[in-house]
Amino acid sequence: MWRGAPSRFRAVFGGSPMSSGGSPRSLEGKVALVTAGTDGIGLAVAEALGVAGAQVFLSSRKQQNVERAVTHLRGRGLQVSGVTCHVGRAEDRERMVQAALDTFGAIDILVSNAAVNPHLGPTLEADEGTWDKVFQVNVTAAAMLVRLVVPHMEKRGGGAIVLMSSIAGYRPMAGLGPYSVSKSALLGLVAALSPELLPRGIRINGVAPGLIRTRFSQALWKDEAMREQALGALGAQRLGTPPEVAQAVLFLVAPQGSLVAGQTLLVAGGALARL
Ligand SMILES: NC(=O)c1ccc[n+]([C@@H]2O[C@H](COP(=O)([O-])OP(=O)(O)OC[C@H]3O[C@@H](n4cnc5c(N)ncnc54)[C@H](OP(=O)(O)O)[C@@H]3O)[C@@H](O)[C@H]2O)c1
Repeated sequence: MWRGAPSRFRAVFGGSPMSSGGSPRSLEGKVALVTAGTDGIGLAVAEALGVAGAQVFLSSRKQQNVERAVTHLRGRGLQVSGVTCHVGRAEDRERMVQAALDTFGAIDILVSNAAVNPHLGPTLEADEGTWDKVFQVNVTAAAMLVRLVVPHMEKRGGGAIVLMSSIAGYRPMAGLGPYSVSKSALLGLVAALSPELLPRGIRINGVAPGLIRTRFSQALWKDEAMREQALGALGAQRLGTPPEVAQAVLFLVAPQGSLVAGQTLLVAGGALARL
């Protein structure tokens, strides 16, 4: 920490910027909450944060998925627990945060990763109920989750948050109008919250993956012709993997990312994008 820096920045930017930045256990003593943490990108994030030393509390809607993910990660020697939570439901979010506190005693890191995409087709064919659902789960729930965890992070002297956006938030994808617009809203949410959270000791950033090999996106990559078309439209060199996205999240929540705040990092295999 440089001399004279306000104390409120200490938790955000770390005692000395590179003091623990290179440590493979850079999250030792931290507790991380990961939504949609039972498959794909979320599961890879839970694993990466656990390997970095964090105690990880993960969630998703289905009990069997939570049990499977927790068993899998514990089998890798990680400190992991979890609970069911549909992020679109306020009572589920509250129950999840309380369960994380009851289990690990604190929350230092939040990765808000859940999203839905119920509509495939022309944007104007999406009805009001579809728009409401997409925004409720993908945007409002993320904001409400941040609201819930911030007081607990403040008790710890600070924290770090990542919201999972998408390359579709930067450049809308054909047939995915409401989803793309909701992911653009997350770019705005990160930018709006960052100046409010920094003085409270909390860094918030976003990650915008390109096309990543998961169940969620399989319609875009399973068929080779479809995959080439999707990658070509994005200008990406290749399909990404969940661990590649997880490493970007790890960087942003760890001391390595101590000077990065209010940004959304594109992890998209060479695709260029800006809003
Ligand atoms: N894959 C890509 O190419 C790509 C690209 C850009 C951005 N993303 C973003 O990355 C995030 C994760 O996607 P993914 O590709 O990793 O998906 P995935 O592999 O299909 O996993 C989806 C996860 O979300 C959970 N989930 C679904 N709806 C939920 C809800 N309402 N509340 C809580 N959990 C829920 C699922 O578990 P349950 O079924 O048990 O709920 C599962 O754990 C999403 O925000 C997505 O928009 C993905």
